[in-house]
Amino acid sequence: MPNTFYITTPIYYVNARPHLGHAYTTIVADVASRFNSMCDKETFFLTGTDEHGDKVVRAARKENLNPKVYVDQISELFQKLWPELNINNNYFIRTTDPSHQELVKKILQKIFDAGDIYFSEYEGLYCFGCERFYTERELVNGKCPDHETEPEPIKESNYFFKMSRYQAWLVEHIKSHPDFIRPERYRNEVLSFLKEPLEDLCISRPKSRLKWGITLPFDKDYVTYVWFDALLNYISALDYPEGSKYHKFWPVVQHVVAKDILKPHGIYWPIMLQAAGIPIYQHLNVHGYWNVDQSKMSKSIGNVIDPLELKNVYGIDPFRFFLMRDMVFGLDSNFGESSMVQRINSDLANDLGNLFSRVLAMVHKYFKGLIPEQGNDYRAASDIDLAQAATAIIGQYEKAMSDFAFHKGLMLVWEFINQMNKYIDATAPWTLAKNESDRPQLKAIIYNLLEGLRVVSGLIYPVMPDTAATMQTHLGMNPQDKFYRLKKLKSWGIIPSGAAVPQPIALFPRIDLEEVKNATGESKNHEANKLNIKPEITIEEFSKIDLRVATVVKAEKIPRAKKLLKLEVDIGERRTIVSGIADSYTPDDLIGKQVVVVTNLKPAKLMGVISKGMLLAAGQKDKYSVATVDQKIKPGASLS
Ligand code: MSP
Repeated sequence: MPNTFYITTPIYYVNARPHLGHAYTTIVADVASRFNSMCDKETFFLTGTDEHGDKVVRAARKENLNPKVYVDQISELFQKLWPELNINNNYFIRTTDPSHQELVKKILQKIFDAGDIYFSEYEGLYCFGCERFYTERELVNGKCPDHETEPEPIKESNYFFKMSRYQAWLVEHIKSHPDFIRPERYRNEVLSFLKEPLEDLCISRPKSRLKWGITLPFDKDYVTYVWFDALLNYISALDYPEGSKYHKFWPVVQHVVAKDILKPHGIYWPIMLQAAGIPIYQHLNVHGYWNVDQSKMSKSIGNVIDPLELKNVYGIDPFRFFLMRDMVFGLDSNFGESSMVQRINSDLANDLGNLFSRVLAMVHKYFKGLIPEQGNDYRAASDIDLAQAATAIIGQYEKAMSDFAFHKGLMLVWEFINQMNKYIDATAPWTLAKNESDRPQLKAIIYNLLEGLRVVSGLIYPVMPDTAATMQTHLGMNPQDKFYRLKKLKSWGIIPSGAAVPQPIALFPRIDLEEVKNATGESKNHEANKLNIKPEITIEEFSKIDLRVATVVKAEKIPRAKKLLKLEVDIGERRTIVSGIADSYTPDDLIGKQVVVVTNLKPAKLMGVISKGMLLAAGQKDKYSVATVDQKIKPGASLS
């Protein structure tokens, strides 16, 4: 077994603020990295930001910022978020780093010189959201499956990477390395994709269309396309080719990504490495998507979850625990605050929290707060052999965690916690405490329980490092002492007899969801939801709606349309507007009235009349009251 470990997350686009999905992947990588430290490995954990491309330029333009200022701001949001979530990355890479850009050029030149990059004209369907061309068969109902928009036909000359040349090699590599892409469903997905001929990959954009990128070393009029730039971060961060980090960590690299970027990582990246003569990565670990209320998180639906908010309300360890325990790595999961609260209350507050305070309370009650001696017959204190149970659980836990089955690893820890609770019930220390002659048994039992808690604190360390350290302190241990090493966890009898333990504390206070909602003002939002208030919009979005005061000049019924009136309004110019208020107003009621209209709504044809705008009115069906102004005002005046 190598004694090094290298883990990467995708480098995140800076066109959006960090959300729950980014937090999950990065916490997964952190958990994997911490778990490997438990195995006495030297670990290197990389994350970063992907800062070039159309998407970023468009996001910067929206904020009226130049791209560099914009990317600095958003990249900083990511960099500041990670310590808040107890993410212990060793390095943060940005694709705007000069050393990264140099390396991208070097590799491009190398592949170009080898004849695997060629220039050609291409016409295809391009999704601006994904920044890539789509083939017809990849589209769903003619739309990009991710953005649900129709890609636009684009024709331009570009540089292409001869991926097709490596297709057979890649299939063979995946087949001969069964856990190269895992879980298996994603390996199968890639293999099935590779059954069809692989198209060559367009790797450039003309500068006439996109300047915000790395200039191709062999053509100054082009910048490199997003994937060729982004994927190389995984080696540029290690100072490829000479860096000592590269030699130490590249041979053991594992990537973590979600299913959205399976193809670039499962196909483009190994082929790029092979073409550049660089050894192929060890594992690609692919997880599913967090959805919210069964739908994809999206700015337009307004259901994007901010990880920092959750951390602030529930605490970082419960938040990390929920994510790792609830999602089966590889499958999608639905995020819901009530299931998070349930999980925290049952697994953390009840099972672990109660066990912890129960045992420490017994140390105080029966041994004046001093850890008792282990005694000679510590294993024989009951039918349940906690030491043996711990060894068995640790073995399975090690396998689950190495395989990225984090939920399973945690389930095993909770199996052990349940065994400890049963052990207390079976040995009934409170009965033994009544007889002096049972004292040796009592000591052994409490000592075993403290040892069990020490093992639990080590096993939860990757997911809940803060709680693990608190538990250590309460067990008379020094949390700086690498207590989580598996080697240590596998031995029994380490807790120092005679050490004083602090009074028990509630590791995880029980949470009342209603209280949380009141405290965070969410109940107000609930009220808002009862009112069916639409998702929040920004002031910029609101300012796109052109609202004006209009004077009704003419009004008449539309034949055969019982509810519609045709109005001619003055907004500084004359407009025809059709309005469905005929049940509430006669034409005469309206003439001369000042009303409010939306002037920039796309024209619509209603019963043969083209309506150029919409009149605002409150109410519904047959009872409308038109919005008006309370003083005479010049027609055409804007509302803001
Ligand atoms: N910049 C590229 C990656 C380049 S890597 C060489 C990119 N960036 S991204 O900002 O869109 O990040 C995508 C990744 O964010 C996913 O692969 C996943 O790790 C994480 N997630 C984004 N939304 C997610 C969910 N809803 N659920 C889980 N993870 C998700 O693609």
